[in-house]
Amino acid sequence: MHADSVPLDARPAVGAGQAVCSAGELRPGQMLPVLADGRDVVVIRTPDGGLHGLEDRCLHCGRRLSHGRLHVAVTATDVGRYEEEQGRFVIKCSGDGYEYDVATGTTLFDSARSVTRVAVREADGAIFVGAPAA
Ligand code: FES
Repeated sequence: MHADSVPLDARPAVGAGQAVCSAGELRPGQMLPVLADGRDVVVIRTPDGGLHGLEDRCLHCGRRLSHGRLHVAVTATDVGRYEEEQGRFVIKCSGDGYEYDVATGTTLFDSARSVTRVAVREADGAIFVGAPAA
């Protein structure tokens, strides 16, 4: 579940209030890098259908989160015993493995460190980045 197949020069570049894609184009488990109003954003459709937006830059060395992996969050209940956290999803950076909660942008290892969340919404069969136009 990553966006390696979307070259950076092929990503949608949109201005405020413009749709980045149709709602059906971003399927559960997919991520879409976009240049929205001059800002790098990754739009994320989690496997449960949730829609999220984050700044598309890792806090560590700046790799694009859209080139990472989207997966279900996992907790360890004992040595070798892992359980999936229902409804919580994580992007793992393709670099050195920083992991971010997609709903909050917060790193899993330090709750004080987060990438910026970006407002995304689905309306009229399309996906938009940023606040609704006035
Ligand atoms: S650039 Fe993301 S973990 Fe290193």
